[in-house]
Amino acid sequence: LASCKGKDLLRVDEFSGEELTQLLHFAAYLKQRQKSGQPYQPLKGKTLGMIFDKSSTRTRVSFEVGMYQLGGMSMFLSGKELQLGRGEPISDTAKVMSRYVDAIMIRTFSHAGVEELAEHASIPIINGLTDQFHPCQALADMLTIWEHKGTLQGVKLAYVGDGNNVANSLVLAAALLGLDVRVATPPGYEMDADIVKKAAAYAQASGGRVVVTHDPAEAVNGADVIYTDVWTSMGFEAENEQRLKDFAAYQVNEQLVQHADPGYLFMHCLPAHRGEEVSAGVIDGPHSVVFDQAENRLHAQKAVLAALL
Ligand code: CP
Ligand code: NVA
Repeated sequence: LASCKGKDLLRVDEFSGEELTQLLHFAAYLKQRQKSGQPYQPLKGKTLGMIFDKSSTRTRVSFEVGMYQLGGMSMFLSGKELQLGRGEPISDTAKVMSRYVDAIMIRTFSHAGVEELAEHASIPIINGLTDQFHPCQALADMLTIWEHKGTLQGVKLAYVGDGNNVANSLVLAAALLGLDVRVATPPGYEMDADIVKKAAAYAQASGGRVVVTHDPAEAVNGADVIYTDVWTSMGFEAENEQRLKDFAAYQVNEQLVQHADPGYLFMHCLPAHRGEEVSAGVIDGPHSVVFDQAENRLHAQKAVLAALL
């Protein structure tokens, strides 16, 4: 993990498949160590600044708890209450924060804004979700699949729903790690073509595969894992009514999961809307691992924090 030191985590594919695998092994070790009650505190005296321009439960709590468990501390900063919210340049904010804290986690709208922050900061910047990417989620997702399936290589992963930030990061991580990825979105809600292209190139190198379609049953056919996310992401609320119509045929429910492998896992980054992207029976049923996923945010991010710092 020495190669990760000092790096940013803006996109999951800033790390190689090899580095991601090492991070997952490290996360699994930290998880087991935490559960056995042996403290691991390499970040004594270190501080994480956490800037939030959007709501959060998991990201905020898991980063704060994770930093504490590693021996450091974190501070919650609402973007609106920072001078950033009154027009102070991102570049000045980056330079000032770099004098105080050892790393920044940021959740915001614009991915370009996070890149600008990283460009001007002299400390690691961690993306806690932008409109385009959610890399920390993808790491926790890969850890969860690995724990439940015992492998990542060749695992058939179906993503059904919006070609959004969660989909982008999930597909990039899965492609780097050799999964067999199928993505079904409604027309007009596809993933960015260049991300699909990038993912296909990673898959070629890792022995994985990336297929995109508009047909949910085709994506789910024989799947080991079915993943979905909200139809209306934060910042897109004005489109909610239209999206409810456009996504109606893309619900992960009792009918759709019949196409999957009988031992399939159901995954969702949460928060979820029962009766929209997923039926209550599926998300609350025996195949669902959504709370393992949520827990793994903590362990995966601790690995990231310890590796970057
Ligand atoms: N999955 C996730 O990022 O959740 P929060 O929005 O609660 O942080
Ligand atoms: N796609 C969702 C994920 C929330 C964790 C959003 O951006 O709102």
